[in-house]
Amino acid sequence: MQIAIDGPSSAGKSTVAKKVAQSLGFVYCDTGAMYRAATVLAREYGIDYGDETQILAELSQSEISFKPVASGQLVFLNGEDVTLAIRTPEITNNVSQVSALPKIREELVRQQRKIAGDHDIVMDGRDIGTTVLPDAEVKVFLVASASERARRRYEENIQKGIMTPLAKLQEEIETRDYKDSHRQISPLTKAVDAIEIDSTNLSIREVVERIVELANIAK
Ligand code: DC
Repeated sequence: MQIAIDGPSSAGKSTVAKKVAQSLGFVYCDTGAMYRAATVLAREYGIDYGDETQILAELSQSEISFKPVASGQLVFLNGEDVTLAIRTPEITNNVSQVSALPKIREELVRQQRKIAGDHDIVMDGRDIGTTVLPDAEVKVFLVASASERARRRYEENIQKGIMTPLAKLQEEIETRDYKDSHRQISPLTKAVDAIEIDSTNLSIREVVERIVELANIAK
């Protein structure tokens, strides 16, 4: 079974997807982490974030993998733990450029389909229901208002000791929304057969329950 969860940044996709996967005993694949790992790869090799040929040359010989742990999920790039490295502001602010490169998308979509081919899966991203897994039995488009998404990110940051002003976080979220929805290849769009869930006024538990219910109906 395949469950696709798409939506804009900071809508809570990965938190929800991880819990849905746990609850159903499925594998969870965070495709945003894969685009972030490709961005880390470019940085490690000193490759310009717009240099599609060079990034692809390294990426096609690289392995991105995940390891579930009690605190969530670790992300590895060629065996190196990049779980923290993929979340730095440098990577967050440049991942949109790397993820807009058509050949990088092609390569990562190939890797994502391979992961999905081996297991029952919950996959989250921007183009899962439209492009990566068009036949997924359950497709969810998870949204929340930009101000609520900024507020959630602000609280998360405070826990981590990061003090970015709320207004700046909202501006960054809106900039990423714009870039993700206006790029030429696989822009963020809701699949025609996706069910939209607006989490602005819902708890994580309520969203998870709703998706598990959809999965049980689809079984
Ligand atoms: O979900 P996230 O913030 O970790 O995603 C990081 C970036 O990768 C974001 O700019 C959108 C892009 N992305 C994408 O283009 N396609 C996906 N399937 C997942 C993420």
